[in-house]
Amino acid sequence: MTDLLSHDSLRELLDTGIALARGAGAILLDGLNQIHAGNGGALRFKSSPGDVVTEYDQRSEDFIVSELRRRYPAHAIVGEEGGAYAAGGPASAPAHYEWQIDPLDGTTNFLHGFAMFSVSIGLLIDGVPAVGVVYSPATNDLYAAARGLGATWNGRPIHVSCVDALERALLITGFPYDYAQSPHNNLRAFDAFNRRSQAVRRIGSAALDLCLVASGQMDGYWETKIKPYDIAAGIVIVREAGGVVTDSAGGDTMLASGDIVASNGLIQSAMLDVLSTLQT
Ligand code: IPD
Ligand code: CA
Ligand code: CA
Repeated sequence: MTDLLSHDSLRELLDTGIALARGAGAILLDGLNQIHAGNGGALRFKSSPGDVVTEYDQRSEDFIVSELRRRYPAHAIVGEEGGAYAAGGPASAPAHYEWQIDPLDGTTNFLHGFAMFSVSIGLLIDGVPAVGVVYSPATNDLYAAARGLGATWNGRPIHVSCVDALERALLITGFPYDYAQSPHNNLRAFDAFNRRSQAVRRIGSAALDLCLVASGQMDGYWETKIKPYDIAAGIVIVREAGGVVTDSAGGDTMLASGDIVASNGLIQSAMLDVLSTLQT
């Protein structure tokens, strides 16, 4: 592994992520003000009428990608709206350093002027989440972490909760865009967790969901059909806050499978048990 894993180098990469998340957040905040003023801007639909992309998703991504390419020309970048980039052209070979960017996580909320949306910037080093920044510009909440350096919320160290029974846990989840078309739409799991936990919430930004677990505001989160750019940053933040992140079988395939369970660690096996009963 390269010297970029030293604490100083990780700190520098984290500072870059923080600066870019704040810059992209300012772009989104301008957009939010326009929306509140009745000027929504250009829209386009992706997989379904519920899967919308605004001009601000693209502007935010363009800003982050151009800055990353200027600062780290040898790093690969995967952005939700632009696909893959590497030095000099589209990425083909796996890179040691790969940025996973969701320039606007929670587009539906943004479109409605609802404050729960974020910028998510994660860095994988040799395929493992190593640096993560999630910024909520409307509330000015910034969550950040790098491997071995701990996790912070607005600069203060954070830790996961100490709730040790699923029955007393507050959980959060999300639903895929093919909800209406696919039977694998998380509804059975939602029902099962609703019965077994204290309550389940849904706010509409997976990156923020993970940060809510990291900061102890939620005790657990699960989702399916999620993309690497939704979760790469949040995985580091949860782990550095003392939490546990696995796939629904307890493995480590979250980025490849899109299947994720994150918690304070104390309720992880109980969450996996609930999900395992649904697979039979
Ligand atoms: C979505 C949000 C939502 C989650 C969806 C994601 P987007 O991302 O994170 O919470 O439930 O699965 O696709 O489309 O707003 O970037
Ligand atoms: Ca997303
Ligand atoms: Ca997005």
